[in-house]
Amino acid sequence: MGSPVIELVLKNIKVEEVDEGIFSCIDRNDRQSDYDNKVNAYDLVVGNAIYNRVMWGNWPSNYADFCHQALTSKPGGIFLDAGCGSLVFTASAYANADNKLIVLLDRSIGMLRKGRDRIKKHSGAIPKNIVFIQGDIFSLPFQDAAFDTVASFGVLHIFEEKMDLLAELERVKKHSGKVFFSSLVGNNTLGRRYFNILNKAGEVATCHSSQSLIGQLSPSPFEYKLNTIGNMAYGESA
Ligand SMILES: C[S@@+](CC[C@H](N)C(=O)[O-])C[C@H]1O[C@@H](n2cnc3c(N)ncnc32)[C@H](O)[C@@H]1O
Repeated sequence: MGSPVIELVLKNIKVEEVDEGIFSCIDRNDRQSDYDNKVNAYDLVVGNAIYNRVMWGNWPSNYADFCHQALTSKPGGIFLDAGCGSLVFTASAYANADNKLIVLLDRSIGMLRKGRDRIKKHSGAIPKNIVFIQGDIFSLPFQDAAFDTVASFGVLHIFEEKMDLLAELERVKKHSGKVFFSSLVGNNTLGRRYFNILNKAGEVATCHSSQSLIGQLSPSPFEYKLNTIGNMAYGESA
């Protein structure tokens, strides 16, 4: 694999190019993901500006701005987005970023393909500083302290094991760097109702308000400051 990301990958991990510009660290018999079948529906619903405004009280520009804030927190730094999805909100931020290396990881090859195609549409080709890689956020294929900045947008609310997820993001972050994450929360009646419907459908974990999310993360050895817009909590290393 002639990619700069190879230097960041754990020595015992096998990396294989599985599609143009997309690498996998997952065993070839285990490369399917539930999200593979949801790519188009995800983009149609979750990518919709009105849906985000009404249900979650955010405009897509709020998500793009937070991504830009994370990217520029360490100018030129080596950056990881874990659970990057189809880049429905972030493609433009990544295509325009001058970070030395941007590693976009997701468990779903389908999501990665969509994200890659978005970047190609934007830039004409995959920029040399962007790498797509299939991997598991709970067992990242990277060495300790590999990244200046580690981000994960809209993933924390999917899992009950929030502390495990954040601990893994922290493991691959340099001591001097920062973790950025966003998480849907149920701060108002509409948000809570819809969150609970998604929970029953198995799409998300238990609903938290911003306040109860802070409580849940408080035993963590890592400190985060949380800013909330509507039903979205934006966290960053304190
Ligand atoms: C709600 S989407 C968020 C996508 C994107 N960050 C965004 O804000 O639009 C959650 C993403 O997490 C990915 N995902 C789910 N489980 C994962 C895991 N164990 N490791 C890495 N990614 C995972 C899914 O494939 C999906 O792309």
